[in-house]
Amino acid sequence: MSLEKSSFLQTHRLDSLRDFEEPFALVPPACSERKSSLCQFVTPTTIADFMSLLFLPRRGETIRLLDAGAGRGALLHAFLRRHGENSRIDLTAYEIDENLIDSLRQTLHLLRGQSSLRSRIITTDFVDDAVLNLRDGSGQRFTHAILNPPYHKIKNTSHYRKILRSVGIETVNLYSAFLSLSLALLEPLGQLVAIIPRSFCNGPYYRSFRKFISS
Ligand SMILES: C[S@@+](CC[C@H](N)C(=O)[O-])C[C@H]1O[C@@H](n2cnc3c(N)ncnc32)[C@H](O)[C@@H]1O
Repeated sequence: MSLEKSSFLQTHRLDSLRDFEEPFALVPPACSERKSSLCQFVTPTTIADFMSLLFLPRRGETIRLLDAGAGRGALLHAFLRRHGENSRIDLTAYEIDENLIDSLRQTLHLLRGQSSLRSRIITTDFVDDAVLNLRDGSGQRFTHAILNPPYHKIKNTSHYRKILRSVGIETVNLYSAFLSLSLALLEPLGQLVAIIPRSFCNGPYYRSFRKFISS
């Protein structure tokens, strides 16, 4: 899915990610329990490249890029290879799993020579941090966001549900929470490209989410 804030929504259907065998080159296998609790599915290079192509080029701007749930940096790697040569990039990568941080740093380090890049890695929970940022109203905003968010149900009584509600986001899954928050952190005319399941397209559970992303 690609979105330009307040402007248009475009969807592309991908077959199951499992059909794409090619792994991100820097990724060794992760611990499987942790992997599933944090929804650590790596975006294959072909898909990451395709996602990077969906951003509309804009000349002369500094790109302020957000990856909320960066893993080892597969999406950032693709984005920087595609857009890094001609733009200055100020990148913010959230990743909650400290086991992945060294690899993420390594990915960014490898790309440093290719572009005018400033980067910061934030190891706190993206949902907590983004909600604080939105409540405060004076935190960082982004021109671009690229994400393959974690997919996990949010219980009605959970901490996430409560804090999301406090910024007007009513949703039942982490993927839609990540998407809504990233969208809310975009500047006007910012662009967002994300892989998400199509469960949001119908049914009452995602009604508020649909309303939120189309408002
Ligand atoms: C589906 S993976 C995508 C990884 C990488 N962006 C990619 O495309 O290969 C989602 C990532 O989000 C991270 N994550 C999960 N919950 C998070 C949270 N609350 N805050 C920040 N990162 C989180 C996971 O550790 C995982 O690396």
